[in-house]
Amino acid sequence: MKNTLKVVFAIVMSIGLGSVSVAQESINALRDAPLNVVPSAPLMTKMVNTDIREIRGFPEQPPIIPHNIRGYQIDLNSNKCMTCHSRTAIGQSQAPMVSVTHFMDREGQVLSNVSPRRYFCTQCHVPQHITKPPVQNDFVDAEQLHKN
Ligand code: HEC
Ligand code: HEC
Repeated sequence: MKNTLKVVFAIVMSIGLGSVSVAQESINALRDAPLNVVPSAPLMTKMVNTDIREIRGFPEQPPIIPHNIRGYQIDLNSNKCMTCHSRTAIGQSQAPMVSVTHFMDREGQVLSNVSPRRYFCTQCHVPQHITKPPVQNDFVDAEQLHKN
């Protein structure tokens, strides 16, 4: 009886330990530390600041921001982006104007200024960071697909 209990105990332990290590392996992938350890936050990486407009992955993609936007405030009272990208500012800034879709309300009516639904630019437009991506991107441009 005692021996049977020992064997059962050993089996339970080995199953238990086995599943712990499996769980850690799959949860660990991006976190890179055991679950009971708080790793120090990685340093902030630099934003891409080439000033070169990037190609879009598909026609309706919001273009990515090719310049630094650290500290650019967008709130009820001011919109830093519009100090360069508004219709009236581009003469001086030489930035591309927000396109006409940004002036349309949901009925397609063109307003005289940016529509409220396009006011918070970084909802759709994002800068890029200089960093090593944890997962590789295997996106294939549609134009490439046509060629194959
Ligand atoms: C100081 C002026 C200035 C400010 C402020 C500014 N931009 Fe720009 N932006 C530019 C210029 C100039 C370009 C053209 C490329 C370049 O020279 O960087 C540009 C390019 C872009 C592009 C690329 C457009 C395309 O067709 O590829 C996007 C998107 C953009 N900006 C979004 C933003 C957003 C969002 C903000 C606010 C968070 C912002 N910009 C603030 C000047 C500015
Ligand atoms: C709801 C999503 C959304 C928001 C919010 C938004 N945009 Fe866009 N933006 C887009 C899309 C999609 C495009 C590309 C197609 C188009 O022009 O509508 C674009 C295009 C642009 C372009 C390129 C225009 C051109 O003719 O090449 C600029 C510059 C730009 N946006 C700046 C801004 C700025 C500045 C703001 C904030 C005031 C802003 N966007 C808010 C989705 C958005």
